[in-house]
Amino acid sequence: MGALRIGVVGATGAVGQEIIQLLEKRFFPVLELRCFASMKSAGSTLSFRDSKIVIEALGPSSFKGLDLVFFSAGSSISKQWAPVALKDDAIVVDNSSAFRKDPNVPLIIPEVNAHALKTNQGLIANPNCATILLLMALAPLHRLAKLKRVVVSTYQAASGAGAKAMQDLEQETHAFLTNRPYTRSVVPFPYAFNLFLHNSALHDNGYVEEELKMLIETRKILEDDSIRLTATCVRVPVLRSHSESVNAEFHFPIDPSRAYEILQKTPGLSILEDRVCNRFPMPIDATGQYDVFCGRIRKDLSQDNALDLWIVGDQLLKGAALNAVQIAEILLHDALDTSRKKTLL
Ligand SMILES: NC(=O)c1ccc[n+]([C@@H]2O[C@H](COP(=O)([O-])OP(=O)(O)OC[C@H]3O[C@@H](n4cnc5c(N)ncnc54)[C@H](OP(=O)(O)O)[C@@H]3O)[C@@H](O)[C@H]2O)c1
Repeated sequence: MGALRIGVVGATGAVGQEIIQLLEKRFFPVLELRCFASMKSAGSTLSFRDSKIVIEALGPSSFKGLDLVFFSAGSSISKQWAPVALKDDAIVVDNSSAFRKDPNVPLIIPEVNAHALKTNQGLIANPNCATILLLMALAPLHRLAKLKRVVVSTYQAASGAGAKAMQDLEQETHAFLTNRPYTRSVVPFPYAFNLFLHNSALHDNGYVEEELKMLIETRKILEDDSIRLTATCVRVPVLRSHSESVNAEFHFPIDPSRAYEILQKTPGLSILEDRVCNRFPMPIDATGQYDVFCGRIRKDLSQDNALDLWIVGDQLLKGAALNAVQIAEILLHDALDTSRKKTLL
């Protein structure tokens, strides 16, 4: 397999734009790039390498001839159009939640469970952003001491709700400071100098969808249904990068110094802290960075075999676009490997 014909659905969105930039920055071998968005954006252009790409609306023959399509336009679009792309023999890497629970669809964080890619049938799901950041730190510790229970509170940025939510936060803050009225386009509650519980669907059990995703996806990725997890997800007035306060209880004792040692060696994760200055990872540290940042690992004084951790990561990158592109890179690498082996035989 040489250079690929790539499609990006949701190319004008917060995640789609990052995918396109990463394909360029990481020298992904792109033979052709086709970009799709809603009817409203069709006909406008975006830049890729030295050329202008005209954005197209989706149609029945959109995916013909494409090798790999990234979907990041919401789950209803993925449910409607991913099967069309698969039928046209494209591999699909989906950023939405449409197929994450499907037992036949691998849910992949490359640093954590790349082995599960082997079972893919052409469709691979990218996990929820808060779950990716969480497991980048917890998976290496789980391998050592086996996770028993996690209590996590998230502090999620506006960009997690898409490009328009970022505009809402910026414009509402400006309006607030200049004492002018502002009508929000997607954010449901006052956002400037405020916070609110995550704006995903509320279930009968009192959890919002985002919180349940963190439980279900953690179990699927770590292949351990005995893990207990309770999450509280909060939207905070930060433009980019989610933060998480994590309490993790393990079956076996694990000392903070050992946890630091392991996480320092974990690819894709950086320890960032200065205890003298009481400085730990912040969203501005993580923004635009590939790594997830962790710090303030301490023994839980209230519970044996438990640690507290603080995690921050750019959810548009490692929580979405970067993770998706890394999946594509592994698929490409494996395909190259197979064809090389075939040539040698
Ligand atoms: N934002 C994150 O941090 C994050 C993290 C993980 C996963 N995700 C998932 O990634 C997906 C995209 O999120 P986002 O934050 O990038 O959202 P976004 O900024 O709102 O972008 C949505 C994209 O979908 C396109 N779109 C809307 N209706 C369409 C249609 N009928 N046909 C084709 N394209 C259509 C939009 O095009 P127009 O510009 O033309 O409207 C836009 O390109 C969602 O499933 C989300 O859950 C997001």
